[in-house]
Amino acid sequence: MGQDEPVLGPLISSTGHMGLRLQTQNLRVLCDPWVSPGGAYLGARFPFPDNSHLRLMPGLWHAEWVAVSSAHLDHMDLAFLSALSDGVRVVIPEYPSSVFRDRLSEAGVKDIVEVAAWERLPLNDRGDWLTAIPEQSPAEHRAAFLIVADGVSVLHGNDARLSLSQTRRAMVEVGGPLDLMALDASEPRFKAVKRLVRSVKPRLVMTYSGPACFLDPALAQHNQHLCEPGELPTETLRMLPGDSVRIAPTTHDVIRDPHWEGFAYSEHLDAYASSRAQEIAEVWAAHPDPGAGSGLAKRFKEHFVRLGRLSPYFLERISMTVRFDVSGADGGVWDVDLGASHSQQAPQYTFSVEARWLEAVLSGEIRWDDLFLSRRLLIEHTPDADGTYLFGLLKHADADALQAVEDYDKRDPNATVTLSAGDRAFEVTRYCPHSGEDLAEGAVIDEAPEGLVLRCLAHNFDFSLTTGLCLNARCEPISVAAPV
Ligand code: FES
Repeated sequence: MGQDEPVLGPLISSTGHMGLRLQTQNLRVLCDPWVSPGGAYLGARFPFPDNSHLRLMPGLWHAEWVAVSSAHLDHMDLAFLSALSDGVRVVIPEYPSSVFRDRLSEAGVKDIVEVAAWERLPLNDRGDWLTAIPEQSPAEHRAAFLIVADGVSVLHGNDARLSLSQTRRAMVEVGGPLDLMALDASEPRFKAVKRLVRSVKPRLVMTYSGPACFLDPALAQHNQHLCEPGELPTETLRMLPGDSVRIAPTTHDVIRDPHWEGFAYSEHLDAYASSRAQEIAEVWAAHPDPGAGSGLAKRFKEHFVRLGRLSPYFLERISMTVRFDVSGADGGVWDVDLGASHSQQAPQYTFSVEARWLEAVLSGEIRWDDLFLSRRLLIEHTPDADGTYLFGLLKHADADALQAVEDYDKRDPNATVTLSAGDRAFEVTRYCPHSGEDLAEGAVIDEAPEGLVLRCLAHNFDFSLTTGLCLNARCEPISVAAPV
């Protein structure tokens, strides 16, 4: 691999799943490394294809910075992160709640740096930097990282749903087309990714390996998306764990990991599952069925009393009965009324789950989101049930995160934002009159023959910062004023 040799331009290596490593002569950054042998989500999900051979390359895991995009356990490998050497800084995006940071701290991760959206974090004294681009809606806490090193730009998109305007803003930040966009192009994301790539025309696209696979035989039916991604409308590098690309300003050079010679997607899974049987058995052994008299029902009730106090706004919108069909010696069928009193109503959602996995949530070992992603829970619902706020409440289970969603839902259409260009500032309509893009994030100010214009990056409409009129499309004007 030659990981420690001097390189010309950054060397980008796939570390498996949605992980990558960027190395220059002066910088080493790991993004979303996931290598723990036990996988994640209660032994349910594992990187695909198997990246365990990379554990034998210790140099690959040395870095000054580790960027972790979300608290999802296939991005936040707590066993790996808690074993980092002193002095390695862990960068995370700033989200509306402290849950992500708290989970890292509780796991023993020491040096955590939170980066606000679009804030440039210097990575060394040579001008290399990184920023975080969280998804626009706070309903999901996922983010991309944009890194510029040795003058080369890398957008580590992972599974964040970046909008077109955010991607265009990233191009504005780096002053031109992105050199490398690393993207999750697996189904069902493929079509959206293809549209994005066609619109922003990066120099190179890197598709991650994956998606994650299920190696527990009890979950094998969820492996239907394991196939090679389709064709994208630009030069695309399909990177398997250990593959690298060296990117110079005008050239690139792919270095394939010989480990994958003769690799076939279709033949990998059975042997991989056998190799993890021990780890999966250990997960089951560590989560025994709570015996009769364990107090599971009482803890369950207390848990939902606490959740029910977090957000009246969410409760009002959930307004349904949810049934938990809990199997095990101390299980039962328990209905929870969330929102208005529906105690006599039939449940709209039914969650069927083994008591052992529910106990992991009630004890705080995992969160509801982790349990959903584990697929160790069966979800059924009536045809007309809308679970948006139910899943929001359970996934976040945090007052600050829920408040952020409420604030986002209640955005004031007359709100304004102050944007500046050089030493001039303009107070303008915050949400684009065309289709609601948040101009606080999705706009740039540019020179035009008509004077300064505000360009909404969602669909490239230009608005005069003198008159507010839209200059290149039929669209309502924005308001423009000098801030007081
Ligand atoms: S939302 Fe379409 S141009 Fe602004």
